[in-house]
Amino acid sequence: MKLWLFGIYGIVGSTAIVGERAIRRGLSDTTGLVSELSYFKKLKDFAPLEFDFGGHDIRSLDKNLYQITEEHWELNHHFDRRILEQLKGDLENIKAKKGTAINCGEGVLEDLKPVNTLEEEGFTLREIVERLEEDIGNFADEDTVAINVASTEPLLPFDPEYHSTLEGFEKALEEDRKDKISASMLYAYVALKRGIPYANFTPSVGSSLPALKELAEKVGVPHAGNDGKTGETLVKTTLAPMFAYRNLKVLGWMGYNILGDLDGKVLAHKRNRESKIVSKDKVVGKILGYYPYTITEINYFPSLQDNKTALDFIHYEGFLGTKMKFYFIWDAIDAIVAAPLVLDIARFLLLAKKKGLKGVVKELAFFFKSPMDTDEYNTHRQFEILKEWYKELVR
Ligand SMILES: NC(=O)c1ccc[n+]([C@@H]2O[C@H](COP(=O)([O-])OP(=O)(O)OC[C@H]3O[C@@H](n4cnc5c(N)ncnc54)[C@H](O)[C@@H]3O)[C@@H](O)[C@H]2O)c1
Repeated sequence: MKLWLFGIYGIVGSTAIVGERAIRRGLSDTTGLVSELSYFKKLKDFAPLEFDFGGHDIRSLDKNLYQITEEHWELNHHFDRRILEQLKGDLENIKAKKGTAINCGEGVLEDLKPVNTLEEEGFTLREIVERLEEDIGNFADEDTVAINVASTEPLLPFDPEYHSTLEGFEKALEEDRKDKISASMLYAYVALKRGIPYANFTPSVGSSLPALKELAEKVGVPHAGNDGKTGETLVKTTLAPMFAYRNLKVLGWMGYNILGDLDGKVLAHKRNRESKIVSKDKVVGKILGYYPYTITEINYFPSLQDNKTALDFIHYEGFLGTKMKFYFIWDAIDAIVAAPLVLDIARFLLLAKKKGLKGVVKELAFFFKSPMDTDEYNTHRQFEILKEWYKELVR
């Protein structure tokens, strides 16, 4: 089993790899992994928790994954340092390949300062695709899955001519329309074209582009996304149904998020932040069936590093028109809640592939803030749907 990560040098990507290795070597247990719940125990027959890792990134390409993880660790102390030391040999052997930062916005270009990306070296879109295909091709086998854990891109305006069909998308590649194509689209394109299941852990467009959905159907490969549901949105979509079940009217919902680290730095840029805000904001209305007043804010707070804090305030109306309030604070280490999901999604997608599924796997909505091709945002129902889907597949 192999896992290719776009954005492998980020804290989510590196923590997923540390987690998988730590579990395999008996340095940690499987707490936090949905795929390790006893209900899913047959998953190990189709997609065991054993991966080789590779990936693309756009910075620090002279370093190996151990050095990168050390840098994340120095800032965050997000797990027991002894685990890192014991995995040193494993992590030193993992090195990122050079990716593309095309249309990744000023958040990535200014703050992560990628050097000599493929497009900066003068590659055309076709040549970038060929290079990415070569990297993945040299790594992949029949049991490979790819997940995008790169920084969030700005929303690129939808252009029906180039985005709605596979023919249009490939025309954009031939015409070298660099203004129409983003990195996440290219990554999804190369993975799906090679028959590798793909998931978009970010709010970036990735395989949700109609042209790429067509590609997945044509090749016969499963894919899923978008944007891992790991923290505040997980709580929101678990809690909002309570108001609906009890016929309480939500008048307003404010979610105020602060975080530091690279992700926070990139999201400090308005255009990179926009896609994340859309992804977080719409879930309450989707669950309630009406759209209360909402405020969704994300702000950069450097000293927090990867410790993300969300403050939510809900104003609601009960019996006899009486108004009441509910508050919660979510305070988590972002990578620690995200990394196990990356491994879960990889395993469920490989199961889907082995069972011959193709196209969007909407039953994986449980893992995403903006699930593709479904209007089911209620976490409780999403979990039941996941269990039913799994039961049918493995029986
Ligand atoms: N709880 C969570 O942490 C969580 C939840 C949902 C979604 N996400 C998303 O997951 C992604 C990763 O989060 P993170 O905290 O690891 O961020 P990070 O900034 O630590 O890592 C992102 C990595 O992607 C790399 N990158 C940026 N643009 C790239 C490109 N075009 N190609 C290849 N690599 C590229 C960066 O160099 C960096 O190493 C973000 O988009 C984030 O919004 C995170």
